[in-house]
Amino acid sequence: MSTVVYTAFDGTVTTIAGRVGDSVMETAVRNGVPGIVGECGGSLSCATCHVFAAPATFAEVGGPGDLEDEMLYGTAVDREDTSRLSCQIALTEGCEYHVTTPREQL
Ligand code: FES
Repeated sequence: MSTVVYTAFDGTVTTIAGRVGDSVMETAVRNGVPGIVGECGGSLSCATCHVFAAPATFAEVGGPGDLEDEMLYGTAVDREDTSRLSCQIALTEGCEYHVTTPREQL
């Protein structure tokens, strides 16, 4: 099983059992988790899927690639050390990812 735990900026926690291969963004949108827009559908051109990964999750999934890194300078809420675009994080078998969503995405 693959799990994503989303914490909203107000502290609301939503835990979703996702599908291997889906992204953290797709899992949120498909399950109505607030706080992630995913306007471009995952094509790395909108930066409305910004999340702050928990340190252990960031260590597991790694940092952004070059294009994602550039896109992270265009987020609605300033990036932090563990910022990622959630459309670029794919669920793996047995994963348990923890992310916090920013106050706004647009
Ligand atoms: S959904 Fe557009 S960059 Fe992630």
